[in-house]
Amino acid sequence: MKDKIECKLLKPFGSTIAKSTMPKELIDDFLKDLYDIRQNPEKAKQYAYGHRLAGQVYKELLISPDIMLRWKQKYFDHIIRHYVEAHYKNNKMAKCVIQSAWTNTQKPNDYNPLHTHTHFSNKALNPDLSCVGYLKIPKMIPYNHSKEHHQVGGWIEFCEGSENIFNNANYLVQPILGDYYLFPANMKHIVYPFASDDDNAERISFSFNTTVIFDEMTQYEQK
Ligand SMILES: [Fe+2]
Repeated sequence: MKDKIECKLLKPFGSTIAKSTMPKELIDDFLKDLYDIRQNPEKAKQYAYGHRLAGQVYKELLISPDIMLRWKQKYFDHIIRHYVEAHYKNNKMAKCVIQSAWTNTQKPNDYNPLHTHTHFSNKALNPDLSCVGYLKIPKMIPYNHSKEHHQVGGWIEFCEGSENIFNNANYLVQPILGDYYLFPANMKHIVYPFASDDDNAERISFSFNTTVIFDEMTQYEQK
């Protein structure tokens, strides 16, 4: 037997989630855009997006394309490129295309059931990556029967694969103002309802779906 026993740990499975903190100007721009749309009934109707989404929430409205594209260029493209190129050694991202971008305004007791952002009925529209960013987090209170050791009010939970003693299948995340998460579009996630003293409290987040276009079609040479 050798003096030194070598062992490599391989972790070939499991998706990556990227986390970043958004600039304050981005949050201000997105909120201003949302409030402008909400104040204009004609525009609010035109930007309504709830009929395409799973959320059981107060309002889901598209983000104005000019605001979205400005911040795509200034911020989101960098995060997406970092994510993509961490997974593909010999393949650069040429560009990414945003398919849809919207805000979620969740009032007390609203929730978003377990879902993904994929559309297998139309593969041409199937995004590669999705995300969530937090624009406004209200003061939340525990539900009457909530448990001290497992507070999930207003939290998001990501789910993937099967659980064993060395692997979690669930990843529970507390929404913090300004936090941004990028994840595969087919990753399941759920948003729990929250309780508040104020019936009009709003938890505001946004999401978008994006498709990655590579420089060359050599994306099979994965690291
Ligand atoms: Fe979602």
